[in-house]
Formats: sequence, C-alpha cells, structure tokens
Amino acid sequence: MSANLGGSPTTSLNGDVLRTSTNNAPDGVGGSPTTTQTTTQLVVVGAGGHGRELADIVRAAAAVDLDAHELLGVVDDGAPDRPLLARMGLRFLGRLDAVIDRPVGLLLGVGDPDTRAALDRGTDFADVPSIMHPTATLGSESELGAGAVLAQGVHVTTNVRIGRHSHINVGSTVSHDCRVGAYVTVCPGVRLTGNVTVGDGVFIGASATVLPGVTIGTGAIIGAGAVVCTDVDEATTVRGVPARPVILL
Ligand SMILES: CC(C)(COP(=O)(O)OP(=O)(O)OC[C@H]1O[C@@H](n2cnc3c(N)ncnc32)[C@H](O)[C@@H]1OP(=O)(O)O)[C@@H](O)C(=O)NCCC(=O)NCCS
Repeated sequence: MSANLGGSPTTSLNGDVLRTSTNNAPDGVGGSPTTTQTTTQLVVVGAGGHGRELADIVRAAAAVDLDAHELLGVVDDGAPDRPLLARMGLRFLGRLDAVIDRPVGLLLGVGDPDTRAALDRGTDFADVPSIMHPTATLGSESELGAGAVLAQGVHVTTNVRIGRHSHINVGSTVSHDCRVGAYVTVCPGVRLTGNVTVGDGVFIGASATVLPGVTIGTGAIIGAGAVVCTDVDEATTVRGVPARPVILL
C-alpha cells in the first residue's frame, strides 16, 4: 500500500471491509477489525458518468497497489454507451444479474443515494473494500466503511468516519471529527468543516460548505453552493447562502 493511501483494508467481524488509518479501529463502526487483507475482484455497478468515474478511480488505485483489487468490468441494466466503454478499455459484463451470485465485490457507481442504498440491500454483498484514488488522503484515526469511495484530490483529516457506500467526490475536504453516514453523496468541491454530522442518504451539491458542528438529517438535500450554518432536518432540501429550506408552493 502506498504511503499516501493512509492504511490497509481490513475485514470487520460483521463482514464489512473497512479501511482504517491505523490497525486499531475505534469501537462503534463495524466491530473490531482483524488484519486480514485479500485481493478482491471488483465490478462497478452502473456505466453512466458516475460509474465511469468510479472505474477510473478503481484502476488508478489498483495501479499503485497491485495486490489490493482488480477491476473486472462494469454492469448496467440500462443501455450503456458501449463504444465509449470500449474506448476506455472497460469490459461491459451485461446486467447486474450476470454477476450477482459471483464472488466479486460490487462497487455502486450511481450518484443517487437512494439508488445506492437499494442496490446494496438488493445485492446483500458485504465483502467490498473502500476505494481511494492515489491522490486522496486519509488522516490518522479515520476510517472508511465498505464500498466507500474517495475520489481524486479528496482530503479527509483526523478522526473522521465515513459510512458504507458513501462517495466523496473530486476535490472535497472532510475535516476533523466528522461523522458521515451510509450512502451519502458528497459532490465535487464540498467543504465539510470540523465536527459535522451527516445522516444516511444525504446528497450534498457541488461546492457547498457546511460550517462546524452542524448536523444534517437523514435524506436531506443540500443545494450546490450552499453555506449551511444551522442544522438541517431530515428529508429537507436547503439551498443558498445562508442555506434555507426550499418552500414547496
Ligand atoms: C437545490 C436543488 C436540489 C434544487 O433542485 P430543484 O428543486 O430541482 O430546483 P430547480 O432547478 O427547479 O430550481 C428552482 C429554483 O431554485 C433555484 N436554484 C436551484 N438550485 C439552486 C442552488 N443550488 N442555489 C440557489 N438557488 C438554486 C433556481 O434558480 C430556481 O429559481 P427560480 O424559481 O427563481 O427560477 C438543486 O438545484 C441543486 O443545487 N442540486 C445540486 C446539483 C449538484 O451539485 N450536482 C452535482 C453533480 S456532480
């Protein structure tokens, strides 16, 4: 594992593969990890823009850590742009059904949090690693849940937890003591400052900033460019500076 990747994937007692910045994961996320590391064959689910970005991240990570995992290809139940996939050197493996019973790790290459949650429930496949692009960093005492993704140039600092299948996209930062739930989508250029809590299934639009100590409730949506100064209720959309709930007429 290259030094700037910030640690090795480990397997927790409940089967989730965690990446921690030390070998001693704190209590409370997925149980106590062992030090087992296995090479995992991975398939990206979804061949749209998000899935193709994710495939690039997997290949970049594999290029610097040849023992960690191998990308077999992508699956998609829709009609992907197969010539584009071919030009990218990405193997199209067909529909999700084609791989669902195979011993491969499924990385969920769709941007919508609810869709990722539904796919995860539908596949019931726990043994999937977290993925970090080589230009991403993970600070001390921080950990990533199974299937979590840090894209190019993401910086996660110290004592941060990022939940299962949450995606932190290009150039975002997640500062000290943040707690990010499962199936969260953080779009490019977001700033989560210190001590921010983000509930499961939250979508944070591009270039939003969340100020220290703010809690964002489960399923909330944060508009692009918003500056979130106060807590956001569950399933609420906010936007603007300062961010205010969208009033539906
Ligand atoms: C806030 C958001 C969720 C609202 O979505 P929506 O309800 O479909 O919004 P609409 O496009 O119908 O726009 C409704 C109004 O809000 C305004 N608006 C939309 N997004 C806004 C934003 N981020 N900040 C401020 N105003 C916004 C629109 O201009 C429009 O104003 P108007 O009624 O005066 O014309 C969405 O616009 C957004 O910001 N999504 C994030 C997208 C993103 O970052 N994607 C990155 C993918 S990598």
